Amino acid sequence: MHRIRIRGCRPLSGEISIGGAKNAALPLMAAALLTEERLILSNVPQLADIHTMATLLAQHGITVERVARDRRMLALGGAITNPEAPYDIVRKMRASVLVLGPLLARLGQARVSLPGGCAIGTRPVDLHLKGLEQLGAQITLEGGYIQATAPCRLTGAKIVLPFASVGATENILMAACLAKGRTVLANAAREPEIADLAACLNKMGALIGGIGTDRLTIDGVARLHGAEHETIPDRIETGTYAVAAAISGGAIRLRCARLDHLGSVVRILREAGVEIIEDGGGVTVRRLDGLHGVDVMTEPYPGFPTDMQAQFMALMSVAEGAAMVTETIFENRFMHVPELNRMGARINVHGASAIVRGVATLSGAPVMATDLRASVSLVLAGLAAKGETVVNRVYHLDRGYEALESKLAACGAAIERLV
Ligand code: UD1
Repeated sequence: MHRIRIRGCRPLSGEISIGGAKNAALPLMAAALLTEERLILSNVPQLADIHTMATLLAQHGITVERVARDRRMLALGGAITNPEAPYDIVRKMRASVLVLGPLLARLGQARVSLPGGCAIGTRPVDLHLKGLEQLGAQITLEGGYIQATAPCRLTGAKIVLPFASVGATENILMAACLAKGRTVLANAAREPEIADLAACLNKMGALIGGIGTDRLTIDGVARLHGAEHETIPDRIETGTYAVAAAISGGAIRLRCARLDHLGSVVRILREAGVEIIEDGGGVTVRRLDGLHGVDVMTEPYPGFPTDMQAQFMALMSVAEGAAMVTETIFENRFMHVPELNRMGARINVHGASAIVRGVATLSGAPVMATDLRASVSLVLAGLAAKGETVVNRVYHLDRGYEALESKLAACGAAIERLV
């Protein structure tokens, strides 16, 4: 199994290119099921999760090709030949459930494996299913599969989400595009990846209003057509490398980064003593004199993202003073804490909050992580630690960070993959 070795305590300096957002590209790819025509997506990162979605779509009958002249461009198209999303693919990636809404809207039927639990919590899909039922779908659960039918086309409805779930918003949004009449989706999630999906759907002929707000209106159309769309830059990759600059005590320019999607992260990092300056084509992040502890609570967008919580905790572990980090989105997302503590951090968890008391230095250790963002937080801690850190289970990183080692090494990090 691959591992990553880091020799820490070197300030990073240089430039890193930010890729397209994984969490935008995955639903955009699922949207290809809504039309028989070609959907061309550019700025799609080369990641394991993207490959998993391509495999899933391929077994539904959709061809997914990387365009030769631009490997970040995907051409998707073809007729749907199979309405089933099998357990073997869905269990690898929860976002596979995003094919449910499009399959149902297009074919009037879908059979999608339940994603089940995962390392960061139980993560049910009840909100996806209730929303689709309100659009007229009949849904049963059988043998670990979601069995959904809508023989007479879905019908628009007023849906109020009890919680602003990202995936449920995306699934209902895609299904409603081909429903009869108007759907109003209230308390919708407002993540930039959803606005990106809605913009692409409108290019495909959908009629979506209220984009970027928590109230989406969708006037259903009979069919959608092909389109070309560029994926937005990855705000979590941007935030992660911003923390790399700060924790290593260096300065990194993040090419193609967008600060408008990172408001709460930028505010908190600035409060902690990090300088962040936007120029025309990117953002430069630099640690000023010292880092200070700052309290943070994860919330749906535009609040502080849960996907930045572990990285921020690594940063706070070397800040002066204490920081309270509260996780409100997932119930079990502190699995990086014992590993950070093994590196010398002083973190205590009390329910949904963790108190981080900053230490002067961390020390390298062999560590193991259980999910994508937890893994990268250990890489970040390794950059600041004395001695050698070896991060095991690197496959988590490959799901969401393209060329992590070479991007950091180009800025002076002593980091390599051990195979
Ligand atoms: C998406 C992101 C993930 C991010 C998360 C929160 C993708 C591919 N993944 O995941 O990186 O961490 O948003 O920003 O975009 N919930 C229910 N019932 C449901 C759906 C969700 O109870 O039907 C709960 C979940 O268990 C969780 C919370 O709602 O506690 C947030 O989940 P959700 O916003 O749906 O996250 P995902 O779409 O799975």
